[in-house]
Amino acid sequence: MSADSKATQGRSTRDRARTAAGARPSVGVRLPRFPIPRKFGKHRTLIRPLGPGDRDTLLRFFGSHTRETIHLRYGYELSEISDARAAELVGVDQSRDAALGIFEEGQEVPLVAIGRYFLRRDGNSAEAAFVVREDRRHLGMATALLKALLRIAASRGVKSLDAQVLRENQPMLEIFGRMGGTRSGIPGTDSVVVSVDVARALRRPPG
Ligand SMILES: CC(C)(COP(=O)(O)OP(=O)(O)OC[C@H]1O[C@@H](n2cnc3c(N)ncnc32)[C@H](O)[C@@H]1OP(=O)(O)O)[C@@H](O)C(=O)NCCC(=O)NCCS
Repeated sequence: MSADSKATQGRSTRDRARTAAGARPSVGVRLPRFPIPRKFGKHRTLIRPLGPGDRDTLLRFFGSHTRETIHLRYGYELSEISDARAAELVGVDQSRDAALGIFEEGQEVPLVAIGRYFLRRDGNSAEAAFVVREDRRHLGMATALLKALLRIAASRGVKSLDAQVLRENQPMLEIFGRMGGTRSGIPGTDSVVVSVDVARALRRPPG
């Protein structure tokens, strides 16, 4: 839910060096080659990593979210994000974390979906989060982003991806469930953590 807050706190250069040195990539994983042209329904899109030049687009994408979307994505009320925060979100270190966008030409706001993960300090697990524009849902965008993130994670030796998800969030639970994800409740909250074993998820037959 809030992958862009907790996991990034208090990181040091030493953390980065430690995880880079400790990571052991999975053998035989094909890293996605960006940009990936992909059609979702009748919509032609490109999937590619977000970069510093996407800051304003991200701000406009955020501005288009409904309250319900923000509630499901972040787990709390958030009326705006600052320019500085937006710059951080598009400017993540893509050799450690991953932030992918789906872009559709001809749209007032070309960014229609985001999938990201932040690596934890242990270097073995990462927290993922997704958001898809309200009128582009049920087309497989989040699933495509999760699959790309899984391949990136595997190529870097990251063992598991997880997300904090509200119990009411059936779509997200379903998407992780299809990848073999397991759920565990967070006591005293209305959320669960869904966790996917990266290697096992990539061994699952496509579907
Ligand atoms: C969760 C979310 C990212 C899913 O995006 P999406 O692109 O619509 O997901 P997909 O199309 O890949 O859906 C995959 C599957 O999830 C399930 N699913 C999707 N929407 C569903 C719904 N409303 N109810 C139940 N299951 C649903 C379906 O099984 C679907 O497969 P199908 O389309 O073949 O039936 C999107 O709904 C969203 O942005 N929600 C708000 C933000 C959020 O909840 N983020 C997650 C917190 S980290």
